[in-house]
Parts: sequence; structure tokens; C-alpha cells
Amino acid sequence: MIKTVAWEKDRVILIDQTKLPAEKTYVICEDYETVAEAIKTMIVRGAPAIGVAAAMGIALGALHSTASTYGAFKEQFETICHAFAQTRPTAVNLFWAIDHMKGLVIVHGDKGVEELKSLLKNEAVRMGEEDIAINRRMGAMGNELIPDGARILTHCNAGALATAGYGTALGVIRAAHEAGKSIEVFACETRPFLQGARLTAWELKESGIPVTVITDGMAGYAMCKKQLSLVITGADCICSNGDVANKIGTYGLAVLAREHRIPFYVAAPLSTINPACGKGEGVSIEERDRTEVTHIAGQRVAPEGVDVWNPAFDITPSKYISAIITEKGVVTKPYKRNLGKLRTKSR
Ligand code: MRU
Repeated sequence: MIKTVAWEKDRVILIDQTKLPAEKTYVICEDYETVAEAIKTMIVRGAPAIGVAAAMGIALGALHSTASTYGAFKEQFETICHAFAQTRPTAVNLFWAIDHMKGLVIVHGDKGVEELKSLLKNEAVRMGEEDIAINRRMGAMGNELIPDGARILTHCNAGALATAGYGTALGVIRAAHEAGKSIEVFACETRPFLQGARLTAWELKESGIPVTVITDGMAGYAMCKKQLSLVITGADCICSNGDVANKIGTYGLAVLAREHRIPFYVAAPLSTINPACGKGEGVSIEERDRTEVTHIAGQRVAPEGVDVWNPAFDITPSKYISAIITEKGVVTKPYKRNLGKLRTKSR
């Protein structure tokens, strides 16, 4: 299995996703600043992977703390957490992981600094392992929705690379493949960062799952001509009313799927739900550098001086979503009530 993020000899190891598929190299992070920078620059990306990387980065920063009292440790710890909170704004799993680590330090306020350091380290490692287990559970639940012979459209990368391993949307696809179903995947290239063409296509090919890459603009025609059975994506933030923030282009696919009467599924762990965010308008959408749009592989393709808008995510209103697959169950409408019930049940 691909190792996206790992804790090894008190260092955080990340596969460099900016180099894939041409090169399989790893970035070795000896300090928390390198991990935070890796999140910012998309060396590690994908909401659950960002969450796990942040937890490990926080644990790494804490490990190097020079504090000898709880108060001094907490102050340094908060600086570290703040650095991670500034990396990327949309993936809820990042803030979920930061809050989780902060909670530990508060609850264990009676412990010594050395004990806190090892608590944080063990917890970060556990979170990575748990993420894989969650994805496998999600895969098993989502598999029930995948018919044998399915032709599946996906967008961006919601695979092993976007998580600690196995994947969310690709986890469901993997589970169907492992169950012996004959499936075929269409992967949108996902401009401008090309997560679909570079990462999803690579992962699926490595796993022996048939994949066809299309440009984003071909999705509608693919729905007309390729007898697609369903669309499945991951999510960066799920609001309490079921609106979903995911990679730019997802909204268009959901509208097209409705027109073509194709089910549109979202697969994401409960840590992607932000109960404090009532609806899509409340999600903070990251806007990325203009050169991602004006250039392809370092080559300028748009004229100098042209205006550029580069939102990295969009919002899919819940009315277009046929079901949300989580590790605790498959949720359908009405989302506000059913997501709420699921969260209460899981506490
Ligand atoms: O900008 P990225 O690559 O971090 O965004 C990731 C996505 O939006 C994925 O599509 C995904 O569904 C969320 S992570 C499983």
C-alpha cells in the first residue's frame, strides 16, 4: 500500500505528491515547520491526509519543545498549532486534528512535559492508523452501492494519497474491485493541479483497476456516451445541511449527474463534517496562486496580464447528492436530520 504519511524515527515522512507520477520520492521532515510548509505547498494534500500530517507535525513540534513547565510547554504548543491552522483553509480535517491535539494537552494538564510529548506522539500515530481503518469501513459500506459492471466517474484524488491510506472515494472503488466486481473508472484530470490525471490515474493503475482519464470538460459528454453508472467524490468539508465543499469542478459534475439521472455519491469520514458550518456559504474557500491557471508544467499558456480567478474548491448543494458514505453508515436526505443523528450515535 502507498505510504502517504508516516512517523519514522521521530520524523514525519511524506510522499512528495507534487512529483508524482514521474518520481516517487519522499520528503523527510525533521521539524514541524517543514511539515506545515509541505501542507501549504501540496507535497501532502487531501483533507484526511492533511489532518494526519498536521497531527504528526504538531507531535513533532511538541517533541522538540524546550519547555520544562506545563505553562511554557502549552505556550510553545499553541504557536505550533497556530502555524498549522494557517496552512490551508478549507479542509475541515486539518482543524479537527488541531482541535483534537489541543484537547489532549488540556485534558492532560496534570501530566509532566515528557509524558505529554509521548502522549501526543502516540496519538498522532494512532490517528494515522485509525484513518486507514475508517477508510476500509467506508469502503465496505460504499461497496453496497456499486453495481457489478459499474462505470464510475470520479474527480480530483480521494485515494490513498489523499488519506493515510486506502482512500475515501477511491476506497469505495477499491472495495468494489476487491469484492471481485468488474468496474471501470473515468478520472477527470482536475485542472489546474491535475490531481486526477497525475494521482488518481497513477493509484488506480498501480492497483490494477481500469481507468480512463478525461479532461474536465469531457464529463458531460462522457455521461451521454459512456453509460456511466455513478459519480463518486470525496469531500473537504461537509456542512450540517449536507452541502459539500470539494475540489473545484465537483459542483458541475453533480448538476450534470442530476440531468443524466446518475447517482452522485460523496465518501468522507465523520471528521470531514463541520457541524458549526450550517450551509455551503459558510465554508472558507481557498484561492490559490494565479500561475496554477496561467501556466501548465511551468509553461505560460494564458497571455500576460490577463485576470485570473483560482478557487481551489466549490460547493455542491446537498440537493444534488444522492448519499454521503461515512464510516458509520450511508446517509441520505434529509441530511440535516440524518447527519445529526449519525454524529450523536457516534459520540
Ligand atoms: O487541494 P487538494 O488536492 O488538497 O484537494 C483535495 C480534494 O478536494 C479531493 O477531491 C478530496 O475529495 C478531498 S480529500 C479526500
